Amino acid sequence: MSDKLFSQLENIIEEIVGFQVSSTEELEKFRIRYLGTKNVVKPLFAEIRNIPNERKKEFGLLLNKVKFAAENKFADLQSTIQAKEDKRDHKLDLTAPSREIMVGSFHPISLVMNRIIDIFSHIGFVVAEDREIEDDWHNFTAMNTPYHHPARDMQDTFYLKGSTDQLLRTHTSSVQARVMTSQSPPIRIIAPGRVFRNETISARSHCQFHQVEGLYIDEEVSFADMKQTLMYYARSMYDKDVKVRLRPSYFPFTEPSAEMDVYWGLKTERDHRITKGTGWLEILGCGMVDPNVLENCGINPEKYSGFAFGMGIERQAMLQYRIGDIRMLFENDIRFLKQFRSAL
Ligand code: PHE
Repeated sequence: MSDKLFSQLENIIEEIVGFQVSSTEELEKFRIRYLGTKNVVKPLFAEIRNIPNERKKEFGLLLNKVKFAAENKFADLQSTIQAKEDKRDHKLDLTAPSREIMVGSFHPISLVMNRIIDIFSHIGFVVAEDREIEDDWHNFTAMNTPYHHPARDMQDTFYLKGSTDQLLRTHTSSVQARVMTSQSPPIRIIAPGRVFRNETISARSHCQFHQVEGLYIDEEVSFADMKQTLMYYARSMYDKDVKVRLRPSYFPFTEPSAEMDVYWGLKTERDHRITKGTGWLEILGCGMVDPNVLENCGINPEKYSGFAFGMGIERQAMLQYRIGDIRMLFENDIRFLKQFRSAL
């Protein structure tokens, strides 16, 4: 009886010594079989009581031998597998496909903005940029926006904490004031940039967005010049046959003022929705610079006249790239942004 147990242990040792593995899965099988909580040697420990006393010590030593053999073999096998995997990692496979290289892309806002800059630079407009944190004078007072005008309401404007003078500009028209007070006519600039208004964030509106402002001041600049300039813009941006219309409007800093619409169409249900059933889309505000504004900025309104316009970028980007929610333009989700790689 005890001989049988001894030879069983000898066999297990032999098995262990001769064990070969070629993967981590097989190595794990080895561990479970010889070193795991339910290993094959465990039941033999209980047999110790069936061994005659004079051979108990010998049996105990043999049990220990099995345990050591299993531990040593496991360490050996482990390093063999490790070496094998290292080798595989380092082997150069020239046929393997290369890793994808992530190339950056322009943000859709930048794409549209750059296009607008490009269009106006062809007719001599130069880019003027200025601060996003403005003072009350450049954002409102200089722009002929009287103190009690609703646009000054705390609801619309973000003022800096504890200040009644420093604010986040509500429009790029503040750059008009910056340019007119530092340059003399002829002036022909476009001012792209970010603006801020205290509005509830939704799919259609945000508390930050982008505008491009235009300003043209010289002797004898007329409403007809403005109309032609904006027509040229609409044709370049949309289509050479695009239909546009100017609707009378009101801005404190221009007189007369207008808004320009482009005809978008009424073919689909979506066209109806985005044009509110009219087929027309408003893309910009414009007008002849109010003489008060020229005077506020130190330009003689008897000698000079000019026109100005301001357009929103998000709306045009959303139309061009069929983006249904303005918030996507500010979330910087890489899955959204990388779709514009091909638009470069
Ligand atoms: N600043 C106006 C706005 O934000 C747009 C505008 C600019 C209108 C210049 C007329 C002239 O709505």
